[in-house]
Amino acid sequence: MKKQSALMLAGCLLAGGALRGGLPPESAADRNARMAWWRAARFGMFVHWGLYSGLGGVWKGKAVGTRGGMEWIQQRVGADTYEYAHEAIPRFRPKKGFAREWARLAREAGCKYVVFTTKHHEGFALHRSDVTTYDGGDVTGRDLTWEIVQALRAEGLRVGFYHSVIDWHHPQYDYEHAGALPHPLKGKPSPNGPRNHAIYVKYLHAQVRELVARYGTVDILWWDYSKPGAEGEFWKADELVRMVKTFQPGVIMNDRLYRIPDIERHDSVGRLKSWTPSRGDFTTPEQTVPSTGVPGVDWEACMTMNTSWGYSAHDHAWKSTKQLIHHLVDIVSKGGNYLLNVGPMGDGTIPEESVVRMRAIGAWLRVNGEAIYGAQANPFPGLKLDGRCTRKGKTLYFHLFSRPEDGRLAIPAAIRRARILGEDAPLRVVRQGDRSLIFLPEKLPDPVCTVVRAE
Ligand code: GLC
Repeated sequence: MKKQSALMLAGCLLAGGALRGGLPPESAADRNARMAWWRAARFGMFVHWGLYSGLGGVWKGKAVGTRGGMEWIQQRVGADTYEYAHEAIPRFRPKKGFAREWARLAREAGCKYVVFTTKHHEGFALHRSDVTTYDGGDVTGRDLTWEIVQALRAEGLRVGFYHSVIDWHHPQYDYEHAGALPHPLKGKPSPNGPRNHAIYVKYLHAQVRELVARYGTVDILWWDYSKPGAEGEFWKADELVRMVKTFQPGVIMNDRLYRIPDIERHDSVGRLKSWTPSRGDFTTPEQTVPSTGVPGVDWEACMTMNTSWGYSAHDHAWKSTKQLIHHLVDIVSKGGNYLLNVGPMGDGTIPEESVVRMRAIGAWLRVNGEAIYGAQANPFPGLKLDGRCTRKGKTLYFHLFSRPEDGRLAIPAAIRRARILGEDAPLRVVRQGDRSLIFLPEKLPDPVCTVVRAE
């Protein structure tokens, strides 16, 4: 009898597994434990760095544009991989110690994790790969992934690998069959004849295997990306994920390997039409903060500081520090994470504009971090405030973008005491039943965002 029910249970689990795309089922408790550090972290640094970084948005002496992703420059100019490599490789000269600069900056900025491009769409792998010569090992004589991973760990940062399944280098990447995905040769005949997609998929798996097997713990795998016609099984995704999980059982993955879920466009709140947890741990709104977050789903908004992910010498459309801090606060108040991008140059140097902004965010977080790390979404729908609210248990944090004209903060909760983060003096609180008024000083100490902590 006992044996029989055990068998039935196993059968159910197996069936469940099949439904979930062939991955082993995971209990809610296990999932919560796996996601815990990520949910508390709230702020990460994204790094786009590859051969395109040396080009900096310039092709044969001409600026390709002043806006948009210059990590796509090969596609923008329609170059095949030989011409591209010929132009880009001489300009990609990683200086010694570049990775330590990245890691220190991320720590100073208050980031808890860093996600960097192990391979972007161009196909160049930063690590020392055995399955290609288009990699850090062959081109620079160094394992750049290893240098980065070591530097991040030395600063106590979690390690995230961005990896592009799109590949503009591999001779068997079948761009005609790759759905709506971009390719520099799209619409032109393959210079090397018919392509065998299965060979590319094998290569993709082999390279990912190197990445998950050789560098110790990988905290995040950030896939990029699928589209209808080339998603999930097009990359043999279940098999790929199973392999990844045998090496990295605790890894957290985004949702771009299968299908980027459709969003209900009409209400702009970020409600997903469907969500399959086994196909990714979190969703990835790009360059936008959904107005009410993404209800019921872990999410991370990734954003650039100017308009390009990869370094661009001609893009000066930098967001202000104030905008960036407001984005962080806005995202956390809606229950999400913020992945803020930097695009280092060909030698690995992070542009000064980004360094200054990252440090300013760090300075703000050193005073106000307790209202961000481990904080949860605003519990008051319809709260009227030029600012945002986050919460930790019974403590509320009011992030003020400006001072209310009458100098009073009206709160729909019974508050016992309040003070401004970074200051000791208590603020005057007047209770009116289950509402409270907090009296603010004449001038708020931080014009960008002052945080009131209320218990
Ligand atoms: C997109 C772009 C890419 C960038 C990424 C970051 O999918 O193709 O260049 O890396 O988004 O979210």
